[in-house]
Amino acid sequence: MSNKQIPQEVLYSPGANDEQKTPAYAVLPLVKYIDKSKVVWCPFDDETSEFVKVFRDNGIKVIFSHIKYGQDFYKYEPKESWDYIISNSPFTNKKGIFERALSFNKPFLLLMPATWFNDSALSKLFGDGSEMQTLFFNRRIKFTNEEGVVQNKITFASCFIGKGILPRQIVFEKI
Ligand SMILES: C[S@@+](CC[C@H](N)C(=O)[O-])C[C@H]1O[C@@H](n2cnc3c(N)ncnc32)[C@H](O)[C@@H]1O
Repeated sequence: MSNKQIPQEVLYSPGANDEQKTPAYAVLPLVKYIDKSKVVWCPFDDETSEFVKVFRDNGIKVIFSHIKYGQDFYKYEPKESWDYIISNSPFTNKKGIFERALSFNKPFLLLMPATWFNDSALSKLFGDGSEMQTLFFNRRIKFTNEEGVVQNKITFASCFIGKGILPRQIVFEKI
């Protein structure tokens, strides 16, 4: 089913695992790849997000937005000028989120389960793959849930997937 066929209430309905917060150690490795003259838009984030905090602490300009402020990624774009999208998005409707990210035709990186490589969606989104970039970690990321509890039994590896930010198509980072 294409996005156009999915009823809007399904597109925007939250998934059971959507409220997982990313730890700072998974954001820090990105800092060295970000041109300091660029503005990063974090579209799934508030001021407590480690994407926002780590980037700002490292001199990177950040704009953030979040569904709780009525800023729905599928419809919203900041009025301010921005250069990159970087965040951990909900894992619900990954393909729709990537279609939206690609529609801006700007560099982006989104944290995804590495198991997504088993899916045909990536080839549909990135064509021959020549533009696609991935950053893999040597360890699984332990996210924090809504209650502030670190999830110690993470069953999947995560990686950043996107285009136009990393110096090569595949990057490995130790955390
Ligand atoms: C996996 S969490 C990650 C939060 C934060 N980016 C981080 O890494 O700590 C995804 C967040 O996106 C929010 N969200 C869900 N759907 C959204 C939408 N359509 N537009 C903007 N934010 C959305 C969720 O409420 C959730 O807080």
